[in-house]
Amino acid sequence: MPIDIKQTPNLIKARSRLHQQVLILHDEIAIPERLRQVAAGKHYFIKTYGCQANVRDEETMRGLLEAAGFKPTDHEREADLVILNTCAVRENAEDKVFGQVGVLKGIKQVNKDLVVAIGGCMVQQAHIVTDMIDKYKHVDLMFGTHNIHQLLDLLDEVYATKTRVVSIPSLTSESHEALPAKRLHRFKAFVNIMYGCDKFCTYCIVPYTRGRERSRPVADILNECRQLVRDGYQEITLLGQNVNAYGKDKGDGYDFAALLEDVAKTGIARLRFTTSHPWDFSLRMIEVIAKYPNIMKAIHLPVQSGNNGILRLMGRRYTRESYLRLVASMRTAMPNLALTTDIIVGFPNETETQFNDTLSLVREVGYDGAFTFIYSPRVGTPASRMIDNVTPELKHQWFDQLVKEVEASAQIRADALVGQTLKVLVDGVSKRNDKVLSGYSEGNKLVHFIGDETLIGSIVNVKITSSHLYSVHGDLV
Ligand code: SAH
Ligand code: SF4
Ligand code: F3S
Repeated sequence: MPIDIKQTPNLIKARSRLHQQVLILHDEIAIPERLRQVAAGKHYFIKTYGCQANVRDEETMRGLLEAAGFKPTDHEREADLVILNTCAVRENAEDKVFGQVGVLKGIKQVNKDLVVAIGGCMVQQAHIVTDMIDKYKHVDLMFGTHNIHQLLDLLDEVYATKTRVVSIPSLTSESHEALPAKRLHRFKAFVNIMYGCDKFCTYCIVPYTRGRERSRPVADILNECRQLVRDGYQEITLLGQNVNAYGKDKGDGYDFAALLEDVAKTGIARLRFTTSHPWDFSLRMIEVIAKYPNIMKAIHLPVQSGNNGILRLMGRRYTRESYLRLVASMRTAMPNLALTTDIIVGFPNETETQFNDTLSLVREVGYDGAFTFIYSPRVGTPASRMIDNVTPELKHQWFDQLVKEVEASAQIRADALVGQTLKVLVDGVSKRNDKVLSGYSEGNKLVHFIGDETLIGSIVNVKITSSHLYSVHGDLV
């Protein structure tokens, strides 16, 4: 099959933070007439890996595909079009995608007309794209994180010309505010407030795959939130790699604290946000979170390490002490605050003493939970060029130790909920027992209780009677 390579990603370009003009557009996207005819009767399947940014992108892809007339299916073997929406944050995320690309090769041998597309962060990397072009010839389309708005035009070309298409810009030139979205959830919604990341933590690929920090216009964010409230949504989660930096790129003084306050005033029942970077977390933000009852008292505050030497090598811009001070200010303002975090073990040349600092920090903070990762070198990042003397065996041993410490901390926090009455947004029936309902507390704890299905989508009071590591049980009040 012929191939049309329009643009391939370039790391040096992606790293540049030159102030290229990003055009903000509010026009609706044009749907190619030829694609409408192709789409009639066809089914699509999207598999998303990675973080909430990708989940929100999937909603946009669904919105576009359905606007063109494609119908969704839950079974990839019944699909005419499969999109893998990929993540590049660690090697195991990429391995999963390569495995799935292999599975699709098998499916395509049976269903010759299957169109396979790959988008997301993984294909923002040149070495991956080269591999896909050379070795995975059944992949028909590769598109990136900066040009999702072109998805329909690119698919149109694939279908009409029977050509493989590669179109992966390294920079954003246009930001489309009026893209359709098919939301995945009926009463909980993700709202992007900014794209990209400028922090360049030395281990991380995200600033390269997602580009520079771009805050969405506040009017567009508030309109989207107000519409969600009108549509009956109960919970909004504001999304960004580093939400606390909202507005910094615009420099008009309107910051994340101001935005949080304005979104809280839309009257949404529950407001959350993720992810927070300790560097940009101001005291004013803490005040706003504490002041509004509809802003949930749950903060995901990645620490990555408890050792100052490692934090410096990671380029995290805070120390153990300043992180602990920030946590103390939060706890003073919000005594019931639930805190979660991300931690990396086995950064190049980490020592036992340095690792122990992470363990002691976990104990000191008392997290409600944590995502823990073994360091994974990412092509092109500064950390990947460091010589690493720590053996994989030792890293795994530390990882197991860390998981135990996190679990001990989470168990203490969960036990403390017993006897309390929590407000729970009911999500649905429990996966394990259809007489049991499940939902999340304000502190983001999974709560199970016996109740009627009609409660799904509402907020109820549940008195907690027992606790487990990742969930608590209780009785409807
Ligand atoms: N912007 C968010 C999330 C980034 S990715 C933040 O800064 O918190 C989510 C988590 O993946 C990070 O917090 C970090 O703990 C982990 N991570 C990122 N790069 C990694 C790497 N190369 N190896 C292992 N874990 C990594
Ligand atoms: Fe990656 Fe750091 Fe940006 Fe988070 S803040 S996305 S860890 S570079
Ligand atoms: Fe993965 Fe990209 Fe998110 S690398 S974690 S999907 S921003």
